[in-house]
Amino acid sequence: MNCQTVLILDFGGQYKELIARRVRECGVYSIIKPYSISANEIRNLSPIGIIFTGGPNSVYDISSPQCDPEIFSLGIPILGICYGMQLICHMNGGAVAPCEKSEYGAIEVTLEESSPIFKGLEQIQTALMSHTDQISVLPPEFIPLAHTDSCKIAAYSCECRKIYGVQFHPEVEISEHGIDMLHNFLYNVCKADGDYSMEDYLRSQIQAVREKVGNKRVLLGLSGGVDSSVCAALLSEAIGNNLICIYIDHGFMRKDETNEIRSIFSERKLNFSYVDAKDRFLARLSGVTDPEKKRKIIGDEFIKTFEDEAKKHGNPEYFAQGTIYPDVVESGANKSAVIKSHHNVGGLPERINFEGIVEPLSGLFKDEVRRLGMMLGLPRSLVMRQPFPGPGLAVRIIGEITKEKCDILREADAIFRYEMETYEESEVRSDQYFAVLTDTKSVGVMGDFRTYEYTIALRSVCTNDFMTCEFARLPYELLAKVSTRITGEVAHVNRVVYDITSKPPATIEWE
Ligand code: XMP
Repeated sequence: MNCQTVLILDFGGQYKELIARRVRECGVYSIIKPYSISANEIRNLSPIGIIFTGGPNSVYDISSPQCDPEIFSLGIPILGICYGMQLICHMNGGAVAPCEKSEYGAIEVTLEESSPIFKGLEQIQTALMSHTDQISVLPPEFIPLAHTDSCKIAAYSCECRKIYGVQFHPEVEISEHGIDMLHNFLYNVCKADGDYSMEDYLRSQIQAVREKVGNKRVLLGLSGGVDSSVCAALLSEAIGNNLICIYIDHGFMRKDETNEIRSIFSERKLNFSYVDAKDRFLARLSGVTDPEKKRKIIGDEFIKTFEDEAKKHGNPEYFAQGTIYPDVVESGANKSAVIKSHHNVGGLPERINFEGIVEPLSGLFKDEVRRLGMMLGLPRSLVMRQPFPGPGLAVRIIGEITKEKCDILREADAIFRYEMETYEESEVRSDQYFAVLTDTKSVGVMGDFRTYEYTIALRSVCTNDFMTCEFARLPYELLAKVSTRITGEVAHVNRVVYDITSKPPATIEWE
């Protein structure tokens, strides 16, 4: 990268990627390195500043992570956050001790001294505190900059050595002016030029992929979701025809979706392989009604189909995935009970002997991936797509899955989504919406005839993180129109209901 770099030293804190992202948002390129990197290696990277992350340890434990002490003599500005702040103090002659009262959550912080990192900020503000240790004695030449009710030194500086520390987390949203502080550190202390942009990120990733895979071939499972699509577009820029994208049509995609994806990707410079596996999936699901069994079967059949296709392509050497940063965090930290087995192609690298894995989006958050997708020329409809589960409509058909049921649901779902997207009242807010085919049939009347047909449930939710949600308060007129259209236009449906459950206790999908 031909731009200024800020180095983030990782001491095991959960927010390291968020810090990296905030620095990028401020227009400065950032890289994350393990805390054990030597001062010499850092010198070779010539960063304009170094940020020490937080971490779960106590600096006074013998086994706690410490950096190369020579880093403090490099003359490069340093900002320590939480553990990072305490470590700087500990390694420079100060002292850290357990708090009398630990602080967790949004706490009022009073800034006492003017400092380049607090320039232009209100004296009192809210910031996220999360610590059980705190600074008891400052090193020589360090001065306190801020306090809270129970933490006497919530920030410090040593202006002559350009070292700063904050006990709170400026990188998280609840820290009111956190991003302004990081901006101040970067521009007032590190003298950043703001010469980094998403275009640079794209260029650097393309370069990194080329260096990693050389002339070898890369296999990517393209699902048509945002992440795998952006990954495909990026890799095709990097390695062109050496990218083999396999799109497996399991028969559970939404109306017209497969055609759209085929037309978007067949125009690009890559090897797009469409696999019609509809019959294979339906055959294996015949007679299966248990939701977990369905998910497992679909995941397994996916891998089998993929293996068959990989063989047909002579088993390419590399495997690519559109893993994004929140996936990395979730899979690393997720020790909770399995609510649903999420289906992806995660089992593949072990089953097929790949030389390596390529994950060019693994440092990005969803909105950054979307921006990258737009830059790569993918259509807005694809880039802004709402989440769609890997097993597709199969987890929205309750009971046994048949072709007839898939067709019914596809039509009903298309009507609901069309009406949601074209409703003229702008106050309709929903982050995910879809139809579900329940396995309940009920009695109805059409003309002079009794009917006994399926019930469609509409699901529409408001959520930020998809971990919890509220059902969306949709206008009655909109619901009425959708109901009239579905019962009038979709054969075998005579009743439409609206799901008014939040998560928890329900989940967003029905299975
Ligand atoms: P639940 O139903 O668990 O869904 O509340 C939370 C979010 O995850 C999506 N979802 C999936 N995404 N593979 C995925 O990639 C899956 O198997 C899967 N199952 C659920 C769901 O649509 C919602 O946005």
